[in-house]
Amino acid sequence: MTSTIFTGIAELVTGDALLEGADHSEHLGRLSDAAVVVQDGLIAWVGPASQAPAADESQDVGGRAVIPGFVDSHSHLVFAGDRSAEFAARMTGVRYDGGGIATSVSATRAASDDVLRALVARRVAEMRAQGTTTVEIKSGYGLSVQDEARSLRIAAEFSSETTFLGAHVVPPEFAGRRSEYVDLVTGAMLSACVPHARWIDVFCEPHSAHAFTEDEARVVLSAGRGAGLGLRVHANQLGHGPGVRLAVELGAASVDHCTYLSVGDVERLAAAAATTVATLLPGVEFSTRSPYPDARRLIDAGASIALASDCNPGTCYSSSIPFVLALAVREMRLTPAEALLAATSGGAKSLRRKDIGVICVGNRADLTVLDAPSYLHLFYRAGVPIVRVLDPAGRRGH
Ligand code: NIG
Ligand code: FE
Repeated sequence: MTSTIFTGIAELVTGDALLEGADHSEHLGRLSDAAVVVQDGLIAWVGPASQAPAADESQDVGGRAVIPGFVDSHSHLVFAGDRSAEFAARMTGVRYDGGGIATSVSATRAASDDVLRALVARRVAEMRAQGTTTVEIKSGYGLSVQDEARSLRIAAEFSSETTFLGAHVVPPEFAGRRSEYVDLVTGAMLSACVPHARWIDVFCEPHSAHAFTEDEARVVLSAGRGAGLGLRVHANQLGHGPGVRLAVELGAASVDHCTYLSVGDVERLAAAAATTVATLLPGVEFSTRSPYPDARRLIDAGASIALASDCNPGTCYSSSIPFVLALAVREMRLTPAEALLAATSGGAKSLRRKDIGVICVGNRADLTVLDAPSYLHLFYRAGVPIVRVLDPAGRRGH
């Protein structure tokens, strides 16, 4: 296959701690006047333009900044229906409690495969148009054996990072029969979903009557692990609770939301930094009028963090990582560098992937370009569509 050299890169943020000659302040691995060679969808060379090797084709990005494609490590894209009225109600003070998930479940069950597939395709395209090159996609709006399996089958058409979330809430037809639902999730539903999933997740939240307790969550996660799936947990979203502790205890790759953390939770996440990533989803706090997670406390304690969209019909129907980054800097006091790394190498770490999130030789050629000379413009020009994915074939995408 032909090789392509990208030139005219005014600033290249690689995230590669080992890149020679780069500016490693704030762990950005930054080069000025850089070039990148791509071959067979992989990065073949990275360095100063003045030392670049020859390639079959050349693409001048015209003095722009290039960063790693965003790794959105938490989304729920397989759903039908509309819950905008719920959002409007929240803006007038109504609290989120997970009850609206049932609305999306009925609409999703009623949708045909083709309709669901088209909805997912549109959302994935929307993400790509905003610089995202990897997306994790959860099920969780089917909540029957058949509907969870088909949600994951469709998700797998778009991503290898698929997550079985049968334990999202107890569906209405199991009201008063929680343990029977947990049996179903860990039995027939798990078996039907495993072929289409890499991960299992559970909404562990004692503050929602619809979600799962610590004991239930432990049963679900242990069954998933027994079936070969990696672990992710929705935890501590609506109040303090056991979710973070459980996720760390079980060695989950990611524990997501982390809005309410005790001192002990922060210590546990810091001690588990090599294993469990705290994935923060500030679009949710924005869309539910909730306090933002204390990201500074996590970073200063030494925890690993990621930033993701949580794009879903209830708590955050935004697919935009640039929006998440702006929130993280403005509302959570991350530096622009910390935020950018959390949405690239942080997301990759939470997915236990070494081939994405960092621009280095051998990694996937997932490159995002900004219509600006520096990565700082991502934050400085919040809300302006300056982000695009560079087409791996060498052409400017979108
Ligand atoms: O990540 N908290 C649980 N699940 C989703 C929201 C689901 C919904 O309301 O549709 C979340 O916030
Ligand atoms: Fe979520």
